[in-house]
Amino acid sequence: MPESRKSWRIGKRDTIFFLIVAAVVVALSLGSQERRTAATPNDAVHIQAGSRNGCLACHDSEGVQPQPAGHTKADQCFQCHLQPEQWVGDKP
Ligand code: HEC
Ligand code: HEC
Repeated sequence: MPESRKSWRIGKRDTIFFLIVAAVVVALSLGSQERRTAATPNDAVHIQAGSRNGCLACHDSEGVQPQPAGHTKADQCFQCHLQPEQWVGDKP
């Protein structure tokens, strides 16, 4: 019986293909990290702010740290800005 198929060995083209796939995966994961919205800081002020009005006392246009112009009017801050790890809300 004649040998019709060559046995498969990892050649130069396979290596190049693998490197391209790896480069695309790395590029995509770096790109998605850059677009992550800023987390809510895990400090004394932020773990005790419990309501939209509490947040906006400092973050509305007259506050000490205003939201950027054109920021969404959405209420659920933590939906986009990660909730602080030690968050307790406005409980005493
Ligand atoms: C007493 C004032 C005050 C309150 C209340 C407050 N913040 Fe802040 N916030 C600040 C200040 C000042 C900064 C900027 C300095 C810093 O990063 O801590 C800041 C920064 C931030 C940032 C940006 C962090 C970054 O990395 O750029 C986010 C997001 C944020 N606050 C969300 C919130 C949310 C959500 C609430 C309500 C749960 C809230 N803040 C309540 C004063 C406040
Ligand atoms: C639908 C998503 C979304 C919601 C909900 C949201 N934000 Fe933001 N916020 C963003 C994005 C996007 C930015 C600009 C990118 C960034 O995080 O630096 C931003 C930026 C900010 C900044 C400036 C961050 C900095 O780096 O200086 C503050 C402060 C902030 N938001 C506060 C709030 C507060 C307070 C609430 C709740 C009332 C809120 N956000 C709700 C998406 C959101």
